[in-house]
Amino acid sequence: MIPESFIQELLNRVDIVDVIDRSVPLKKAGANYSACCPFHNEKSPSFTVSPTKQFYHCFGCGAHGSAIGFVMEYQGLSFVEAINELAKQVGMIVPQETRERDTDAPQKKAVPGMVEAMQQAVLYYRGELKKSQRAIEYLKGRGLSGQIAARFQMGYAPSGWQNLQEVFSDYQDDVLKSIGLVIENEQGRRYDRFRDRVMFPIHDQKGQVIGFGGRVLGTEGNDDGPKYLNSPETPLFQKGQELYGLFLARRAIRDAGRVLVVEGYMDVVALAQYGIEYAVAALGTATTPVHITKLMRQTDEIVFCFDGDAAGRKAAWRAAMNALPALTDGLRLSFLFLPAEHDPDSYVREYGKEAFEAAMQTALPLSQYLIQHLSEDNGLQSQEDKVRFLNEAEPILAQIQAPRLALLLRKRVAELAGLSDEEMRSMIRLPEVQRPRRSQPRQTRSTLSLQRRFVLMVLMQPALVSPDDLAWVLHESEEDALVKHALEAAVAYPSAKPAGLLLQLQNRVDARLMRELEREIHLLDEQVDYSLEFEGARKQLRDMYAERQGKTLLARMQEKKISDMTEQEKALLKAMVGATKNRS
Ligand code: UTP
Ligand code: MN
Repeated sequence: MIPESFIQELLNRVDIVDVIDRSVPLKKAGANYSACCPFHNEKSPSFTVSPTKQFYHCFGCGAHGSAIGFVMEYQGLSFVEAINELAKQVGMIVPQETRERDTDAPQKKAVPGMVEAMQQAVLYYRGELKKSQRAIEYLKGRGLSGQIAARFQMGYAPSGWQNLQEVFSDYQDDVLKSIGLVIENEQGRRYDRFRDRVMFPIHDQKGQVIGFGGRVLGTEGNDDGPKYLNSPETPLFQKGQELYGLFLARRAIRDAGRVLVVEGYMDVVALAQYGIEYAVAALGTATTPVHITKLMRQTDEIVFCFDGDAAGRKAAWRAAMNALPALTDGLRLSFLFLPAEHDPDSYVREYGKEAFEAAMQTALPLSQYLIQHLSEDNGLQSQEDKVRFLNEAEPILAQIQAPRLALLLRKRVAELAGLSDEEMRSMIRLPEVQRPRRSQPRQTRSTLSLQRRFVLMVLMQPALVSPDDLAWVLHESEEDALVKHALEAAVAYPSAKPAGLLLQLQNRVDARLMRELEREIHLLDEQVDYSLEFEGARKQLRDMYAERQGKTLLARMQEKKISDMTEQEKALLKAMVGATKNRS
């Protein structure tokens, strides 16, 4: 644990312009600096670095963050490694906080030995594959060469319950259980998780093995579990964040300028066998916005490939919905539907690389896919049809932050519904045209933007916050929590830059809110003095909280006798009774 105060001090000491300029030469451009983005392929510079915010942002791929974030991303380092690296650059010594607090969540921490144990298991499974004629035949039968199996470090976990006992010096070691290689039954007896399965190691972006998928050798699952068995979520492995094959595909993705997202391990491996090396797979889950953001760092073109059957179509729609919050105007996202009887593995084996890549050219762009899906089964004839269509389109449009894409889609939706632009604007309310409304959901949305606007001011000019401000915040929602944490960070670090304060919020607020904040803050003009806006937003927020608190108190008082009330409640009651009397 590195103390937070040290991290702030470090961020005050380093200058992000120097840090980035060391690896990516920067050019001055107005108040900022710019360069071609190191995180995706581009010819004209859309990567900017702001010295006043101490923040970098790429308008092309959406990559952004502080000096620490840059070093992590660019050098592939962990958070702690990046801190150490930066501290070295400015000659600071990283202090260690005592580890007492760790006991709260011991299972969340990756401990030394986990990665090493995984590596040892990979070596063992690979050795066993060489020895197993049955497993080799199975893979050959699926058209895989020895080279491809080696490239993906594939292996075989033999049958038997405690094979790993011979591999690890201490089979009882906690590490084996926490990385999911062994399972402990109720009697405390341990056994190997993977038995008689072909093994697919899963790598993180540094190439370290963090988990496995294991496939039975038959056609379907058997008595000994499902067709594919995956490592559980462990300190090393979070399914919603990792993509199978990404580490190996990195180069090919850059060369091809695109990434192909498929559903299965075997699809990735078979595509590579046939020369399509830029494929990755989500691990038995739907693709998440984290996945999309990760891929956007590598390329600006993502092609999703799904089976043509009903399940594939369902998965495609889910992928599209999950991608919405992560979209940027620079990103091309499209959907390839294979014939119902095929998956990418069988398709590429039957038709080869050229045919597969030709099919990719026909992939449906996201905007078309959205419109097609929304108007499917809707004749758009009657008023009712159109209302239903608009109702379905509204929440989808509301999630898209990419301004051009959002505008184009809104126009197309208006056309289909036979509405003018003006009518459309009054029917579908997008976030920026929101006005406070009586209805419940509207109200939440408009208050959210007030809280967020205030937080942005706080992050831009933390010195405006006074410790008294901590007294009036309520915490009843995610957004309230955001206000509270932002105020606390500002009071603790009044001279920190926005990037430093954002870092303080990172583990305290909802990840989606965090992303939105980061996006919004880079749009703010750094030369502006925000004190008036700050005062205004603070007053509005205080009033809103006061009103909310009044209502809560009132509701509580209706169930109470006067004698049971607190002094505060009595005072409030008196004030309210007075108010009603005065009016009548
Ligand atoms: P599929 O059932 O489509 O299998 O699962 P597949 O990829 O075509 O595999 P083969 O060709 O039969 O070998 C797609 C993905 O869903 C996850 C795996 O990640 C798999 O690659 N899955 C599937 C599981 O996690 N568990 C299962 O039991 C089945
Ligand atoms: Mn398959």
